[in-house]
Amino acid sequence: MVFTLVFGLLLLAALPRGPAQQTATGTSISGAQTGPLAFDSDGLFRISIFEDLHFGENAWEAWGPRQDVYSVRVMEQILDAEPQTSLVVLNGDLITGENTFLENSTEYMDQIAKPMLDRGLTWASTYGNHDSDYNISASLLLEREQRWLNSRTSQMVHSDTAGVTNYYLPVYLEPCDDSDCTPALLLWFFDSRGGFQFQQRDGVTGERVGRPGWVDSTVVDWFKQTNQDLVSKAGRPVPALAFTHIPTSASLALQAKGLDPRLQPGINDDVPVAQQGDLPYPGKVGYEECEQDIPFLEALAATPGFMALFSAHNHGNTWCYKWDNDLLPDFPVKGNGINLCFGQHSGYGGYGRWIRGARQVVVSREKLEDLAIDTYIRLESGAAVGSVTLNATYGQDVYPATPNDQTRLPPD
Ligand SMILES: *[C@@H]1O[C@H](CO)[C@@H](O)[C@H](O)[C@H]1NC(C)=O
Ligand SMILES: *[C@@H]1O[C@H](CO)[C@@H](O)[C@H](O)[C@H]1NC(C)=O
Ligand SMILES: *[C@@H]1O[C@H](CO)[C@@H](O)[C@H](O)[C@H]1NC(C)=O
Repeated sequence: MVFTLVFGLLLLAALPRGPAQQTATGTSISGAQTGPLAFDSDGLFRISIFEDLHFGENAWEAWGPRQDVYSVRVMEQILDAEPQTSLVVLNGDLITGENTFLENSTEYMDQIAKPMLDRGLTWASTYGNHDSDYNISASLLLEREQRWLNSRTSQMVHSDTAGVTNYYLPVYLEPCDDSDCTPALLLWFFDSRGGFQFQQRDGVTGERVGRPGWVDSTVVDWFKQTNQDLVSKAGRPVPALAFTHIPTSASLALQAKGLDPRLQPGINDDVPVAQQGDLPYPGKVGYEECEQDIPFLEALAATPGFMALFSAHNHGNTWCYKWDNDLLPDFPVKGNGINLCFGQHSGYGGYGRWIRGARQVVVSREKLEDLAIDTYIRLESGAAVGSVTLNATYGQDVYPATPNDQTRLPPD
């Protein structure tokens, strides 16, 4: 027994990215997908997006820990309903940092990781505004995550202002361990920051020190350079998807233009969209100089092959909107047909009682040729709603409207 354990640990140490996974207790079992990401044998790559889990609320009262138990259950139910998931994305606000304690704030990551570890699944995170606060450090959260080989979350930009979760993951058509392989799909993860600085208080007021809530310009520069390098290596634009917790001001502008529940199916209860940057778009003067996310949007809109940006943060919005170039004539950036999507509030923590769920994204080799993807929301009830194809005619195709159901914790 001891021999097996020691041998297992030695094996694990020898193969830091090998075909093994660690459980929450540090032992290893086989079967985890820890090699480079690849399409499955059916030619599909499936992403399950959990967002706004908000673990760790009010640990000193019964309802806080209880809602975490329910959030784990949501994850388990959805992953069991989606057994072919290739990658789980945790799209920010994993933990409600303003409620947590300095000495154990990142330990909630263990509860969040368990449904994936139990199923041998791999995941990638972006951090949200609640993942950085006086008592929680996004850098320490990353350290906690990286104890598991199943986590692909990393930090590729190291400027003081970048935030933490800025990185990309290549996805290959076939399993590929060779750095010469050309990816079929790129997944970009951007840190939209926000929240507060870890263990810092204003010298005068004693208040927590805020962090800017948008993708930093050093990250935009890194994205442009890195994408250019990848494209020149591939010899062609590579289809791409992106994830960032806080949506951009283009989502706010599109919402202000109006949604049709049959053309952009989804719940639209958070009006106006809470977006990156300080100043809202509608009815505002001089936004051209003030919108801090404009450089980020310009970079995305200038990137051929960019299919969709998935955001969270607004628990009451679950739609996708195709940002075509003629839709927003007054907006400082012209869209290139990129789809701006929300997912579904997944956690029992955080505001709102909208039924919990997780947006599913299905990328197929076949549709990728037309830069089209399929997506729907898997609910905790087991139902799938809001199924759409984000293709050239999304925004004109008519779909069933999405129901707007509510769920709550059952009474004790
Ligand atoms: C963190 O510490 C608090 C206070 O002791 C406790 O109530 C809470 O359950 C702890 N959280 C975790 C994840 O261990
Ligand atoms: C932060 O953690 C410390 C140590 O556990 C605790 O005393 C304090 O109440 C927490 N919250 C804030 C906002 O400081
Ligand atoms: C887009 O997908 C919808 C739903 O499957 C389909 O009806 C429509 O014809 C597709 N459009 C294109 C251009 O393929």
